[in-house]
Amino acid sequence: NHSIILDVDTGIDDAMAIMFAVKHPDVDVRAISCVSGNTGLDNVVANTLKILDVVDAPDIPVAAGATRPLIEEPRDASYVHGADGLGNSSLPVSSRAVVPEHSVEMMRRMLVESAEKLTIVALAPLTNVALLLRMYPECADKIERILFMGGSASVGNATAVAEFNIWHDPEAASIVVNSGVPLTMYGLDVFNSVIVEPDDVARLTASDDPIASTLGALLGFRMEGVDGGPDNAFSRIGDAGAVCSLVAREFMNCQTHALQVETAAGYARGQTIVDRRDHAGEDVVHGLAGPWPTADVILGADVDAVVKVFL
Ligand code: BDR
Ligand code: CA
Repeated sequence: NHSIILDVDTGIDDAMAIMFAVKHPDVDVRAISCVSGNTGLDNVVANTLKILDVVDAPDIPVAAGATRPLIEEPRDASYVHGADGLGNSSLPVSSRAVVPEHSVEMMRRMLVESAEKLTIVALAPLTNVALLLRMYPECADKIERILFMGGSASVGNATAVAEFNIWHDPEAASIVVNSGVPLTMYGLDVFNSVIVEPDDVARLTASDDPIASTLGALLGFRMEGVDGGPDNAFSRIGDAGAVCSLVAREFMNCQTHALQVETAAGYARGQTIVDRRDHAGEDVVHGLAGPWPTADVILGADVDAVVKVFL
């Protein structure tokens, strides 16, 4: 069983990740922490509550966290997720409210009150998680692992080399990567590959089951795309794949590598540097850098098997 706190910027694929996590019998979602990213914090919170209504999970506490990255101005991704951040969905506004505390305080409380360690599954810029680790460093001992969707060992998306979540708040990502907490990185290398076939999307969309039809609409929005361009001609499960990696680890190609985040201004800002060399660490010998933290980096997946688990 996986007891988790989700940190999200809901977000079409965050919505699918929430649905999957809540419905999976081996995942216990203790709380959901919201952060600005794909869309503004108000949209993120509203979208998260709407999705929890769809999956009928009224008791999972939701908190609002950071409204912007540590240093930069927020830069949303409405060009991917629609103006409301949720594929311009027609889901009804939830009557639920968030808990009356900041995400950081809620995460701390959940960690302190939990008998066992919790895994933080971060599917968004890492601002809230970095603030938690800076404000309450003692909480690190109660975190089993931070599994984050972010980064890439190859190509970026926000820039040529930087993935959106890391690019949006590189300082926060650097704090998390250098925190000493065990890390799993679910980056673009695998994220981009886990795709649902059009027939399955059509079947879901036509379903009488509100969960299935909502999922179909979310996947379908991606498939049609906001601009109809070729990049949107398929349906990724996106952040949901990171949650799948918890419960379907056997279908993931995972390797442990040294990892750092580039925070310097310039073309590479927000890049994750995954040292895949056999002789990783030699830079220490050459006096170029201290020892780097390591992460379990998921580089690929048995896509058919993962999609089956998800569906
Ligand atoms: C990440 O950015 C967002 O668009 C998605 O929700 C995902 O978390 C991909 O780069
Ligand atoms: Ca996300």
